[in-house]
Amino acid sequence: MNGHRRPRRRVGVLISGSGSNLQALIDACSDSESPAEIVLVISNQADAFGLTRAQNAGIATRFIDHSAYPDRTSFETEILAALAEQQVEIVCLAGFMRILTPGFVEHWEDRMLNVHPSLLPDYKGLHTHQRALDDGAEWHGCTVHLVRPALDDGPLVLQARVPVLEGDHADNLAARVLVQEHRIYPLALQLLAAGRVAVDGDTALIDGVKGPISPDALREPKYS
Ligand code: GAR
Repeated sequence: MNGHRRPRRRVGVLISGSGSNLQALIDACSDSESPAEIVLVISNQADAFGLTRAQNAGIATRFIDHSAYPDRTSFETEILAALAEQQVEIVCLAGFMRILTPGFVEHWEDRMLNVHPSLLPDYKGLHTHQRALDDGAEWHGCTVHLVRPALDDGPLVLQARVPVLEGDHADNLAARVLVQEHRIYPLALQLLAAGRVAVDGDTALIDGVKGPISPDALREPKYS
């Protein structure tokens, strides 16, 4: 039993690769006071290292091969069934590299988070670090947002900024951004699971404050 007032919210995480963000979520949820618990990790790639991370943490895993389905909807129907079987309440996309249909996204409206390696709405899509460098951006960073049907779109919850340094290249900039992803993603999940995120149209409100906010701006950085 955890000492939290409410039952922990059941979380499913969708991955495609290394799963370093998944690891950050697992680590945060291992705190007995966490309002969230990860009950299922689904990968569309058989060799995703994130599956090993989940198994090491004793979390149920599923490999669901998108290429085995005739279309996106039937692939997603299988994912939905797996999530339902584990009574998942919140979904986290953590480096899940498949576009989701509006039907799937709407099913999880305001209950699905994504982490993206840019200061959204800047640099949606791929190669965000190189594009920021090519533009001569002074700041780069990462965002956790609630998911809407358009690519990398939805109410912004947390953002962390990273200065672009002289001589930066995409790889070392990405590595510094990833450190911040690992900081803001677990925090955003805990906030959502604790009921501290509300949505007003296209805007997320975190403890009543319009998002995106910096993790440093949180009045109560842990759980409520
Ligand atoms: C992360 O940088 C994440 O922000 C990015 O994929 C990487 C996954 O790394 N996601 C996207 O670009 C989604 N638009 P991880 O598997 O080590 O967590």
